[in-house]
Amino acid sequence: MSSVQLSYARRMEGMSGNVIREILKLTQQPDVISFAGGMPSPDSFPKADIQRILNDVGDELISLLQYATTEGYPPLREFIAQWVKDRGIEATADQVLMLAGSQQGIDLACKALLDPGDVVLVERPTYLTALQVIQMYQARAVAVPGDADGMDPDALQEAIETYRPKLIYLVPTFRNPSGETWSRERRQIVAEIAASAGVVIVEDDPYGMLRYSGEPVAAVKAFDSAGCVIYLGSFSKIVSPGMRLGYAIAAPELLRKLVVGKQTVDVHSNNLAQYVVNEFCRSPRFAEHLKSIRAVYGQKRDRMLQALETHFPESATWTRPDGGLFVWVTLAGHIQTSKLLERAVEQKVAFIPGTPFFCDGSGENAMRLNFSNASFEQIDTGIARLGRVIKEAGA
Ligand SMILES: Cc1ncc(COP(=O)(O)O)c(C=O)c1O
Repeated sequence: MSSVQLSYARRMEGMSGNVIREILKLTQQPDVISFAGGMPSPDSFPKADIQRILNDVGDELISLLQYATTEGYPPLREFIAQWVKDRGIEATADQVLMLAGSQQGIDLACKALLDPGDVVLVERPTYLTALQVIQMYQARAVAVPGDADGMDPDALQEAIETYRPKLIYLVPTFRNPSGETWSRERRQIVAEIAASAGVVIVEDDPYGMLRYSGEPVAAVKAFDSAGCVIYLGSFSKIVSPGMRLGYAIAAPELLRKLVVGKQTVDVHSNNLAQYVVNEFCRSPRFAEHLKSIRAVYGQKRDRMLQALETHFPESATWTRPDGGLFVWVTLAGHIQTSKLLERAVEQKVAFIPGTPFFCDGSGENAMRLNFSNASFEQIDTGIARLGRVIKEAGA
């Protein structure tokens, strides 16, 4: 075949594949213990419930196999509008848009709001695939410093004045990658700052329902008096990521922009998946299911924290998250985790190095560890292996 020089869109310049997806390929060897992905445990999937719902679907199957509205399956939108009240969010069903995962919400928000050269303010570190989306829309991510309680309000104010951003992207609950959770006060003040500057916040919350300790905190969206916050939720971590179902909640005008953006991508989200999730979430089994996955993941978190105490060098520090799926480890300053990964994979253990989570290229000595997907035994063995690799690197 003769090779032809193809000419790609400028937006593809510098776009490489998602680092996590590349690392996941490495970890597919059967004997590698992977703390790399953000995957729920396969044991957590409500297999029998889904099987039963599909068996019982009846005559509605015909309409579920047909095209449907972009906004989504009405009973599920109704359910979500009620359900999010617990997070302090007041919304009606018509303010809910069903998505193909919350990832699609990040993409649609950027599509609706960003022109090339625009700035998006992000946390430091932040979800790396959001950084990819921002880059794809030829915009620029700028990190705002903060602490365990969230973004620093003064630094946010200053960044808004300096960069005139279009968007602020946040994962305030059980952050990916750090596992930390913003305080209520910080949520309120950041929502107020964004509202007075007229900047849209994307509050990305795929982990909020996975709390194992501590007290629930209201969503940033709960403080959204000006209609500036797009709240994104997901069924990926609590039901199944393969279903590809998430949702956006936003004020009518903003939501309409997302709807129009979605029409040109996938017309609407998978109808049958929406039906199944709606039936499951409305059944008494949903509460039991959440209770049982929280119990198991909470134990896995504890097991990983214990294994880190036992096997990691004293120079290492790590977060102790109240929920979510990740622990964030910081090693001695001279250790480069991207180099360490090669050696770790040789020793049959994998993690995600820190740098891709920073828009300024820092985080060389950090790593993200997922605790949901490995078994208890694998957590012990994998963290022991990783501890050895780190110590060999001179930490
Ligand atoms: C912060 C964050 N946002 C969005 C997503 C995408 O989730 P979904 O499967 O709902 O698209 C993830 C997945 O890991 C995530 O960690």
